[in-house]
Parts: sequence; structure tokens; C-alpha cells
Amino acid sequence: MSPLAILILSVCGFTAAGEKHLLCRSDDLDILFSSCGPGAAMFSFTVKPCSLKVSVWQGHIFWIPKADITILTARIHIWHETLYVFKWEATLCHGVDDDYTFCGALKGETIDTTVRISGAQPTYLQGEYTIVFEAFSGHFEELIACMNYTLIIKQKLY
Ligand SMILES: *[C@@H]1O[C@H](CO)[C@@H](O)[C@H](O)[C@H]1NC(C)=O
Repeated sequence: MSPLAILILSVCGFTAAGEKHLLCRSDDLDILFSSCGPGAAMFSFTVKPCSLKVSVWQGHIFWIPKADITILTARIHIWHETLYVFKWEATLCHGVDDDYTFCGALKGETIDTTVRISGAQPTYLQGEYTIVFEAFSGHFEELIACMNYTLIIKQKLY
């Protein structure tokens, strides 16, 4: 999984549908977000530092899911400007022997956890990225969270 994808997984905040809010700003990066589906009011994801100059981030997830997350599938779509560049999908919780502490949380239960995110530093293109993160619960893939992030990369990074 690319570090950018992991970063996105870990970036979030509270929001009303459609409206873009500033999540963080630094000299190399701005992150804005909006909701694109259900569950936005109950889902927050932040990341530190607000920069792509590092290769280790601390992500914080606060989530009160609207369904049990025994089985959880995550999907990420990334556009650079208007070009569709990346799709990632994974089942993060299978119901047995899961790696993540939030797996097995029940509907309405509070998930408040910190995750260490690390990865090799890829090359990021300057400009605007749109990242849509969707979370699905269960075998029938009920959409339980959808967040839309805009990353504005202000400097050339290697
Ligand atoms: C995400 O936000 C961008 C605007 O920043 C918008 O153009 C796009 O349609 C949104 N996508 C979804 C799936 O909400």
C-alpha cells in the first residue's frame, strides 16, 4: 500500500455533507475535507505532522460506526487534478484474527485509537489531489462512511 494511501486513511475530521473544511496547513501541504456520504458526523481522522516531508506519521481515528465492524472493507480512489490515478481496496477486518484494534467494534461503540503510519517516500506531483475514502460494513458492503479529501501539494518533493 502506498504511503499516500495510508496517509489518506488517517486524515479526517468532522464535517457536514459537501462543505470543504480545512484539516491542516503547512508550508508544503494543505488538506481539506468534506463528507460524501453517511456517517460523517461520527468520523474523525487526523494526521501529524501535516507534511509529506516525513515518512512516519501519527494518525488518530475517532469513530462511532453506524454498523458493527466485524467485516470492514475500505476503498480509496485518487485523482491528480482531473486524472484518475489510483484505486486501492482492502478488507481490513475479516471477523477473525484481525490486525486492527477497531475490528470487532459494535454499532455505536466509540473507537478512539492512534495508529503509526510509515512508508517509503514516493514522489508526489505538485498540485491538487482528490482522495475519496469509503468504508463498507459486512458481506453486502453497506456504505458506512465516505470522506472526500483535497490535498494541495505546494512544493516539489522527492
Ligand atoms: C470530492 O470533492 C471535489 C471537490 O473538491 C468534487 O469535485 C468531487 O465531485 C467530490 N467527489 C465526491 C465523490 O464527493
